[in-house]
Amino acid sequence: MGSRHIPVMVEEVMAFLRCEPGHTYVDATLGGGGHASEILKRSAPDGMLIGVDWDEDSLSEAKKALLPFGDRVKIFRENFVYLPDLMKAESADGILFDLGLSSIQLEKEARGFSFKGEGLLDMRMDQRMEETAADLVNHLSPEKLEHALSRYGQERWAKRIARAIVQEREREPIATTQTLRKIVHRAIPGRFHSRRIDPATRTFQALRIRVNDELGNLESILNAGWKILKKGGRMCVISFHSLEDRLVKETFRRLEKQGEMLILTRRPATPSVDEQKRNPRSRSAKLRCAERI
Ligand SMILES: C[S@@+](CC[C@H](N)C(=O)[O-])C[C@H]1O[C@@H](n2cnc3c(N)ncnc32)[C@H](O)[C@@H]1O
Repeated sequence: MGSRHIPVMVEEVMAFLRCEPGHTYVDATLGGGGHASEILKRSAPDGMLIGVDWDEDSLSEAKKALLPFGDRVKIFRENFVYLPDLMKAESADGILFDLGLSSIQLEKEARGFSFKGEGLLDMRMDQRMEETAADLVNHLSPEKLEHALSRYGQERWAKRIARAIVQEREREPIATTQTLRKIVHRAIPGRFHSRRIDPATRTFQALRIRVNDELGNLESILNAGWKILKKGGRMCVISFHSLEDRLVKETFRRLEKQGEMLILTRRPATPSVDEQKRNPRSRSAKLRCAERI
């Protein structure tokens, strides 16, 4: 695999979490364990970390990275929506959500997240899920396909792409990332092809969000996750596109109105210019934080 995930906005997240010995933190999106290692270092010698991820590949990387911290770490392979059940009666001093994909997932072509190489159209972050991107592309009705592309990819050419997909699959099922990429390229008129981003980017984003129900899961945990925080405990969320960021902003606002949380970031924090240069993947990151009151 060979790909290491570089954690984003580490200093900013740590400043909000104010890690201390003896405290308990939750990393709900463990990935390669980058943020988690930092939390554990800063809460030494006895701070605890509860780590959650639903992806097998990420968990095996995270387990290696967190080995030096021994029994200060508890790891669960689970969808983070079940965090309140996993925590049972325990409560946390801080929770981090670092949404989206890790480089571990993106760079493994066989998982089908990226159109850079050739892979089967899979895109399941949790390999135990049943429905793959290929299932959606080959079986959703044209209307549902169009809706998914437009809602989750904000793709203005959703109708044309959906039509092209349906035409193609009538001849032969669509199985690979490159086949889908070519269909999208042909469906979008050439003069609207951007040189900066591949025309298939939005379609791939839309399918990934739909396969993994990313917005549904985020909405569910934002509405319940604050309850596992102690008073004064903080929730940090790093998002990578406007659909997620809007959901975080609106939910934090509602929780503030209800008197449950205090928003600490009126505007989202963003990575420094230096970090964006060092790690281009960080460019679209937005960090919001709120404290339980
Ligand atoms: C951007 S990566 C996290 C990287 C991590 N912060 C690090 O420093 O290495 C996001 C991770 O969240 C996981 N993830 C996304 N949605 C999830 C969900 N609903 N439940 C559990 N894990 C999820 C993905 O599998 C992925 O490994």
